[in-house]
Amino acid sequence: MALTRRLLLAASTNRWMREQAMRRRFIRRSVSRFMPGEHVEDALAAARTLAEQGITTILTHLGENLERVEEAEEVTRHYLDVLDRVAAAGLDAQISIKPTQLGLDLDPALCQRNLDRLIERAEQRGNFVWVDMESSPYVDPTLALFRASRARSARVGVALQSYLYRTGKDVESLMPLAPAVRLVKGAYLEPPEVAYPDKREVDEQFYRLACRLLVDNVAPGAVLHIGTHDAALTARLLSFVDGHGIPASAYEFAMLYGVQRTHQRRLRASGRPLRVLISYGEHWFPWYMRRLAERPANIWFVMKNLFG
Ligand code: FDA
Repeated sequence: MALTRRLLLAASTNRWMREQAMRRRFIRRSVSRFMPGEHVEDALAAARTLAEQGITTILTHLGENLERVEEAEEVTRHYLDVLDRVAAAGLDAQISIKPTQLGLDLDPALCQRNLDRLIERAEQRGNFVWVDMESSPYVDPTLALFRASRARSARVGVALQSYLYRTGKDVESLMPLAPAVRLVKGAYLEPPEVAYPDKREVDEQFYRLACRLLVDNVAPGAVLHIGTHDAALTARLLSFVDGHGIPASAYEFAMLYGVQRTHQRRLRASGRPLRVLISYGEHWFPWYMRRLAERPANIWFVMKNLFG
């Protein structure tokens, strides 16, 4: 793993760095490239603009590893309100939550209840809840949450990371549930004991698992979100999709707001289903560090905002 990426990911969990960065105006300006604003209204406005271009969305309120039960309740209520607002606005905008935002570190049963409250509201509003995958110690508890919720409702999906060795087995064990899966490469700092250090292997496992899910995970309610900005991988998967006659209802491409916009527009213009994940909120520091780590050249945007 490149040194810059490792340093940025280590910084993402550093409290001092977070406090310093949040105060610097030039850093806040550079964050705006990936985030339309700190408030849900900003995210809804961005979702409306994307909807005009035929692009559907996912909204996520930034924050993770909460320390108090009251905070988890606040986050849950926030998302309940978002589901209501999305329905009132007539938008096709799903939500995506992190289990540690709903209280996983504090009490897994509380987290499950909070997740189920959101799924129930999503049922009522005709919407859908995605569960993000956080760092590797959270994989088992996150899959346990997902399994319990999915047994009750088809309106929930889970992210799986192709950089983890274990993910092939996880996919197989989830298959009987006809799961909704968002496949991503993985964004956290993981040791070589649990994750492929070589990007080529991460890409290969992504391709292999995406193909497996596209062909064999076809029961009603099953869907694959292809969560990558990697143009070469996207092209390979498009050939696979076309070559195997996979229907457009079986998959969506999923990308992050502000990342590879030209690639996003091109994909949409070619008629492929595309969903863009829009992040918003005040607690953007660890998330932003992970975005910088994905493309260290992004640091130039930070520097440009310092001098520009
Ligand atoms: P990859 O790193 O292979 O790069 C491909 C190309 O895209 C390169 O040209 C690169 O420069 C460009 N690119 C990638 N990221 C960029 C960025 N931030 N800025 C500018 N250019 C960039 N992770 C996780 O662990 N848990 C999760 O739940 C999720 N959820 C999630 C949802 C969605 C919709 C997406 C798209 C991604 C995630 N991720 C995630 C993040 C994911 O794991 C991964 O870190 C990033 O998508 C980067 O990997 P790619 O395959 O996109 O690009």
